[in-house]
Amino acid sequence: MTGTIDISVKKIAKSRVTEFDVNNVPFGKCFSDHMFIAEYSDGKWQKAYIVPYGDVPLSYAMSALHYGQAIFEGMKAYKNDKNEVSLFRPTENFMRLNKSAIRMAMPEVPEEIFMGGLMELLKLDSQWVPSSDTGSLYIRPFIIATDEAIGVKASETYKFIIITCPAGKYYSEPIKVLVETNFFRAVHGGVGFVKAAGNYGRSLYPTKLAQQKGYQQVIWTDSETHQYVEESGTMNLMFVIGDTLLTPALSDTILSGITRDSVLTLARDWGMKVEERKISIREVLTAHHNGTLMEAFGCGTAATIAQIIGIGFEGKDYDLPPVEERKFSTKVDDVLRSIRKGKTEDKFNWMMKIN
Ligand code: PLP
Ligand code: COI
Repeated sequence: MTGTIDISVKKIAKSRVTEFDVNNVPFGKCFSDHMFIAEYSDGKWQKAYIVPYGDVPLSYAMSALHYGQAIFEGMKAYKNDKNEVSLFRPTENFMRLNKSAIRMAMPEVPEEIFMGGLMELLKLDSQWVPSSDTGSLYIRPFIIATDEAIGVKASETYKFIIITCPAGKYYSEPIKVLVETNFFRAVHGGVGFVKAAGNYGRSLYPTKLAQQKGYQQVIWTDSETHQYVEESGTMNLMFVIGDTLLTPALSDTILSGITRDSVLTLARDWGMKVEERKISIREVLTAHHNGTLMEAFGCGTAATIAQIIGIGFEGKDYDLPPVEERKFSTKVDDVLRSIRKGKTEDKFNWMMKIN
């Protein structure tokens, strides 16, 4: 941390935590007692405070709503057996938020505000962090443009907010995905490499169409040829073909996932062959045909490791090997969970304790 900030704190009169079983709540629907807010105006971040979670008055003319100057992050805190709370690689989320801010002509958040706010908030709401094996506290830092003005230009005022919610599994079952060759998620020169709210809004219609056909998610392909796979839903995509772990190389159309990096780091540490490069859907289906496509999965903060058991492409469904036979992704899922829960040595210094 580069400095400290003054955060005024107004605590909730009575915690709501006893109204919930934090180890057993639907993803993203019940929010913890407090939220952190920092305000930006006159060219600087001015004011930082924690207040009880709740609705706030905002103008319907607010520029985030009309022109999409809205960015967010997704990260998680975990509780170990000693009731200690730790964050998983929070500095990566801090840096990615600011990468998103730059691309969307929004002000970057100083590290002392991001980390200082996060730490204070988690100290207050530590009871909301699930202790179950697969539970965590999902943390949603975001920045919105708050100018009350009609007219397309970068806002002069912003709010940086952190809200949190206890979370279990995002996907309760392995998923079937449809290769999308009509719509695309991201384009070169666009904003696919950052977490801009509009990326998610635009994904909903193609996803809805895929869901109507019985798939849970789409696999996004490149916008120019629709031949190369990029991501699946809100996850980076990985395949095990033969003895090699394959994932699309990062570019300005792919989000640089923190889970992706963690999976690749572990795989390399275990001596596995790893390739980050363009992957065509034909290559994946040829491997399927030859019996060398061993595993397919998506990875992300919310989804953790989501097993892909079926791929739909051009009207045909391709069934993938059963999850029980997938050595790499089940191991990486277990090891990541153990590191996060403080049960396995944190060799890469990924965990940051709240104290
Ligand atoms: N790709 C997209 C589009 C996402 O929204 C996410 C989720 O944050 C990811 C990939 C995975 O990134 P991470 O592992 O940092 O959560
Ligand atoms: C995440 O994995 O953290 C995401 O941002 C995905 C989603 C819930 C939008």
